[in-house]
Amino acid sequence: MKTGDFELLLSHHFFKNTNHTTMDNEGSFKKLVSHAKEYGYIFPSSEIYDGLSAVYDYGQYGVELKNNIKKYWWDSMVLLHENIVGLDSAIFMHPETWKASGHVTQFNDPLIDNKDSKKRYRADSLIEDYLQKIEGKIEKEIIKAAKRFGNDFDEEKFRKTNPRVQANLKKREEINSRFIKAMENEDLAEIRQIIIDCDIADPVSGSRRWTEVRKFNLMFETKLGSVSEDADLIYLRPETAQGIFVNYLNVQKSGRMRIPFGIAQVGKVFRNEIVARQFLFRMREFEQMEMQFFVKPGDEIKWFEYWKEARMKWHLALGINSDHYRFHEHDNLAHYANVAFDIEFKFPIGFKEVEGIHSRTDFDLSQHQKFSGKKLQYFDPLSKESYTPYVVETSIGLDRMFLAVLSYAYTEEKVPDANGNLEERVVLRIPAPIAPIKAAILPLVRKDGLDEKARTIINDIKFDFNCQYDEKDSIGRRYRRQDAIGTPFCITVDHQTMEDDTVTIRYRDSMKQDRVSTTSLREIIGKKVELQNLLKEICGSSG
Ligand code: GAP
Repeated sequence: MKTGDFELLLSHHFFKNTNHTTMDNEGSFKKLVSHAKEYGYIFPSSEIYDGLSAVYDYGQYGVELKNNIKKYWWDSMVLLHENIVGLDSAIFMHPETWKASGHVTQFNDPLIDNKDSKKRYRADSLIEDYLQKIEGKIEKEIIKAAKRFGNDFDEEKFRKTNPRVQANLKKREEINSRFIKAMENEDLAEIRQIIIDCDIADPVSGSRRWTEVRKFNLMFETKLGSVSEDADLIYLRPETAQGIFVNYLNVQKSGRMRIPFGIAQVGKVFRNEIVARQFLFRMREFEQMEMQFFVKPGDEIKWFEYWKEARMKWHLALGINSDHYRFHEHDNLAHYANVAFDIEFKFPIGFKEVEGIHSRTDFDLSQHQKFSGKKLQYFDPLSKESYTPYVVETSIGLDRMFLAVLSYAYTEEKVPDANGNLEERVVLRIPAPIAPIKAAILPLVRKDGLDEKARTIINDIKFDFNCQYDEKDSIGRRYRRQDAIGTPFCITVDHQTMEDDTVTIRYRDSMKQDRVSTTSLREIIGKKVELQNLLKEICGSSG
């Protein structure tokens, strides 16, 4: 499985097919990937051996950003809700868990190989890409007409009357309903037939010679025990949720929790993805942040709506423009859900799922009762009745969220240099509360005591903020380096500092500089970088 995953990623067809792009094109996404590597955010796993496909390591800044996103999520769940508590369950679970949850039989992707290129694809993704292409054609017609008609343009009427749009809508509808039915019935022959009927070609080679469609289970298997013949087959968990379900009564009883209540968990999961060439978007080892909210049967839709809104607020509180988010309702529901929405983010590869909100009914708890023979019912002390709770789940990929933040933050712009000439700078406009380094302390020169003074400042504020000391290169180059890392504040110590104990503070986004007293640094920086700011924003109590 040795591949230069970065190269694979960059040469993959995916970018050419997309209609919506944040960073505009393949070239920009390429730049993000290499920036992430050059500045210590993301490295390919075991790179000296040419990397391991769809597995990545977080570098010195990547790990800080990841931890900050994790903490933001965790605090928004556990601190802001007195009826949500945390859990850290093991990656290995009893193998029966995955039979009960349906993963052994149903956690499959339909895969298809191209006979000429020998490339392997997810058959459902090929059809989804095709449907997206049709949508792209419709959008193009609309944009063209809107330009032509100006203010008089009536989009609804145009959709209903334009023959080309009508034909594409009809085609899309027909293929989509065939596709949904085939997926629901796991009709692999029909999925292949759709690919043939739509004349879908291999995006790499253009060939239309396809194999049969086969089912491929995404769970990684391993053996428990040291002697493999006697060993039991177990799985690396493909979601954290099951660890929450099997512990639900332990938490409820030991924490004397009353319904409705939630259990939050962050942890590693593993999926043997068929096509995994989209950088952090589709990995084989990744982290999920999941919360299961246990409710009374019948109340699930009310809570589903609550969590749908609450989760969108969490995203928007980061200050990311709302046009980068949208909801998408599932047509093709997972085996456990009765209603499901995705929160989609405008990644450089188009609008894609970053988070799922699912109403999972009592499917999981009922299945675990059946398979374990143990009662998992809740006794309601008020109504004196026992029931199996329903569950509303929020599930977000930590790595995908990381990619969302990084791609949104990455900006190339022309700015004036010291002589007033325009030069290019790359800046990561990461929201200050989750930025890896909050402040860089920079002595103007490495003499006259400026370096020692800079160290004194760091020693004073390092307990509050993640700081970095940098004395190498010209001050302009150091600013650029901190911009590229995404550090919101640069503090420069100069000769005046030695006289009046003031420093310049430079703001990453505006590049404005102020002269301030060293004693006010903690307050100035603190105001902007506290995670509390985001949490208050969610609660609507900021400022
Ligand atoms: N417990 C529900 C569940 O696991 P999911 O939609 O399969 O639902 C939830 O996964 C989230 O996990 C997704 O919204 C996505 O952010 C993330 N995710 C899923 N597969 C991933 C992969 N291969 N690489 C990175 N993130 C992934």
